[in-house]
Amino acid sequence: MTNGIDSGCFQRRRARLAAAMRSGVAIVPTAPERSRNRDAHYPYRFDSYFYYLTGFAEPEAVLVIVAGAAPMSILFCRDRNPEREIWDGFRHGPEAARAAFGFDEAHSIDRLDALVPELLADRDALYCHLGADTAWDTRVTGWINRVRERSRSGVTAPSEVKDVHALLDEMRLVKGPEELAVMRRAAAITAGAHRRAMRAARPGRAEFEIEAELLHEFRRHGAQAPAYSPIVASGSRACVLHYVQNDGVLKDGELLLIDAGCELDGYAADLTRTFPVSGTFSAPQREVYDLVLAAQAAAIAAVQPGNRWDAPHRAAVNVLAQGLIDLKLLSGALAGIVETEAYKKYYMHRTGHWLGLDVHDAGEYKRGGEWRSFVPGMVLTVEPGCYIRAGEGVPERFAGIGVRIEDDVVVTDAGAEVLTQDAPKSPGDIEAWLRARDA
Ligand code: GLY
Ligand code: MN
Ligand code: MN
Repeated sequence: MTNGIDSGCFQRRRARLAAAMRSGVAIVPTAPERSRNRDAHYPYRFDSYFYYLTGFAEPEAVLVIVAGAAPMSILFCRDRNPEREIWDGFRHGPEAARAAFGFDEAHSIDRLDALVPELLADRDALYCHLGADTAWDTRVTGWINRVRERSRSGVTAPSEVKDVHALLDEMRLVKGPEELAVMRRAAAITAGAHRRAMRAARPGRAEFEIEAELLHEFRRHGAQAPAYSPIVASGSRACVLHYVQNDGVLKDGELLLIDAGCELDGYAADLTRTFPVSGTFSAPQREVYDLVLAAQAAAIAAVQPGNRWDAPHRAAVNVLAQGLIDLKLLSGALAGIVETEAYKKYYMHRTGHWLGLDVHDAGEYKRGGEWRSFVPGMVLTVEPGCYIRAGEGVPERFAGIGVRIEDDVVVTDAGAEVLTQDAPKSPGDIEAWLRARDA
């Protein structure tokens, strides 16, 4: 059992990958540890592809899968080390890892360079991922060359190198019930953190104080980390899409945009809410908020099995563009504004992305040049926004308003399930939640 997912599930994923490869050898390393400064490291985070196939969270590990009539999965990992374990904690070591995680074989990571060339001998294809890390690319090339050096003994090296991520992206795109269970929990913890953050917000508080509430709520429920740097942006800072300084001060009369989600057992939640610091939307804030909310409702309604990936975006853009005309932020006919993308002055990002082990998760958005169709089990965000920077032609009453509303949505047989619905979203629910803060 790894964080609620049993080892049989990881074994089945490895078997599916081997079946998709048909023949050849796949090599999937986990992520390296990264130095932050001097001898301090960033908190360790495994590679999502490696973890998806293994559930093994230790650094310095590599998975090798040999496909064919009798597929085999082999883990290379750190040896036990009593001295290091005093300092850094438990290491499984190969034998315990093999037994606990259901590998066919496990070896010391120190034997990787010796054993991989043997495993590659007389195999037609090598599945790996090149181009992300030059040191890794060099090592892989070295293994292939070691096999080629034996050609005079009749040994052949893989003639094809294929991207293992291409196969894994397709597998990761459609979540199984065990993954959805973790994602529901990550979404629930995240929604609870947003509720708490809303109640903590008041004029005079620093954005980082609200960030601290979010982080505390994530962690006290067992989430290991935020899934990405939280955005806590009050006032016009909400118009900076990737604002992460979080060092401004909340002011009466301004909105606060919070985009934050936890990572639980490897899986991300990604949730945005925007609400008035005072507890009540001003008239122009409410007009913009209602518009983004209507755009989001239209987009969520477009998340249906069989619909294409861009259906939610097109639905959101149509609602936003018409609303921008109605609010006199844009002038012209709807069709022209959509066609020329004039709406991008206020809505410059897309309406969502896949969600899973990575916040911007694996998976192609197009196949054969066409947007792909939704199938049950896909998870995506739906996150329209409207960002009105002060400037030429912008009515004063709207200047500096930034709104985004983001939910995490699973495609189901019947349509869509919103995972993050416990975070207040309608203006009525938001104002009611904030009134209780002041009671
Ligand atoms: N928080 C990152 C995103 O919304 O895509
Ligand atoms: Mn987000
Ligand atoms: Mn997002």
